[in-house]
Amino acid sequence: MPEKSVRVGLIGCGAVAQYGHLPAILRTHGLDLAAVCEVDRERLAEVADATGARPCGTLDELAGADLDAVVITSPATLHEEHLAWAAGQGLPVLCEKPLTLDEPGSVRAIELMEEADRPLYVGFTYRFAPAALEIRRLIREGAVGTPRALRLIYLWDLHGAFADREHFTGVNERREGRIAEGGPMIDCGVHQIDLARWWLGGEPVPTSVVGIRVEGRETPDHLVAHLDVDGCQVMIEISIAYGHTAPATRPTFSYEVIGSEGVLRYRREEREFVAIGRSGIRELDWSPEKSFDGMYAAFADALTGGPTDLLPTGRDGLAATRIATDLSVRAAAAR
Ligand SMILES: NC(=O)c1ccc[n+]([C@@H]2O[C@H](COP(=O)([O-])OP(=O)(O)OC[C@H]3O[C@@H](n4cnc5c(N)ncnc54)[C@H](O)[C@@H]3O)[C@@H](O)[C@H]2O)c1
Repeated sequence: MPEKSVRVGLIGCGAVAQYGHLPAILRTHGLDLAAVCEVDRERLAEVADATGARPCGTLDELAGADLDAVVITSPATLHEEHLAWAAGQGLPVLCEKPLTLDEPGSVRAIELMEEADRPLYVGFTYRFAPAALEIRRLIREGAVGTPRALRLIYLWDLHGAFADREHFTGVNERREGRIAEGGPMIDCGVHQIDLARWWLGGEPVPTSVVGIRVEGRETPDHLVAHLDVDGCQVMIEISIAYGHTAPATRPTFSYEVIGSEGVLRYRREEREFVAIGRSGIRELDWSPEKSFDGMYAAFADALTGGPTDLLPTGRDGLAATRIATDLSVRAAAAR
């Protein structure tokens, strides 16, 4: 356990900061939320009041907060600028995905952090869910034999097409933004790609992808991709147009590892997590699919000299995003 609290600053107090990062930082032993930085003055005041952190309207103000580490949860368009700032300050970083908007930007940011000799981690929160950690452990100890196929499915509506989904009025701008940034594989599927790399311990090679245009847009809103990881066939199916016109959401989310000796099956909505093998069906402990608390426990450990092996690095972020982008470009090009 860390003895001295690590002084953490956070840049960008929007949606994911408020529901995920800030509550988790406040709950994590060994971390002290020292300062928050946000350009929306009203939001800054609200978050500072709610958390007790020092409010900073600019990076210059944040620089005066005597930080030990920084968390970047600003819009993806600003990640490169904020990563360059953190490197200049010599601060370790946990940055939300995507690292930056494009590959050259991500490489520049990674190199700046490497030159500053400070760690850069990416917010792949799915890794830290107890169920995801258990799948990795079981695969590594051979519980399903040799993994032959991995199926990762996430079909949802990204909070629906409408701003007011009960009255079917307005446009869900957040969803439009994600489509403009490249669609569901880049926004959500990048987590599944990271899990495939991390669980199987190899580099996925895309073999095929089909883009489905449920809404009829240029950018596919539903993709089915196949990748090969050292002989294990990975299927990733991702949609943000699954019931998008409905007044309420009803997603599908599952992982299946199919091995020479058995199967692991995780279904989020059904709250099912089982191992199926020679000894029958074994119930495993179900958990939600992501864990901000787990990620910050690992971040706190890493910052105080503990193990770093669970944390996705900037280069992991780059590798997963490169595959997600390649699949999205190929899916969009094929009509
Ligand atoms: N890991 C996950 O599960 C997950 C989930 C949602 C979003 N994300 C990622 O997190 C990032 C943020 O997404 P979001 O949905 O919270 O966005 P958001 O727009 O809700 O929040 C961004 C915040 O940054 C603030 N901001 C803008 N410019 C700033 C600046 N110069 N300095 C300080 N603050 C500034 C905005 O005012 C806003 O409050 C994106 O990269 C997104 O892809 C990850």
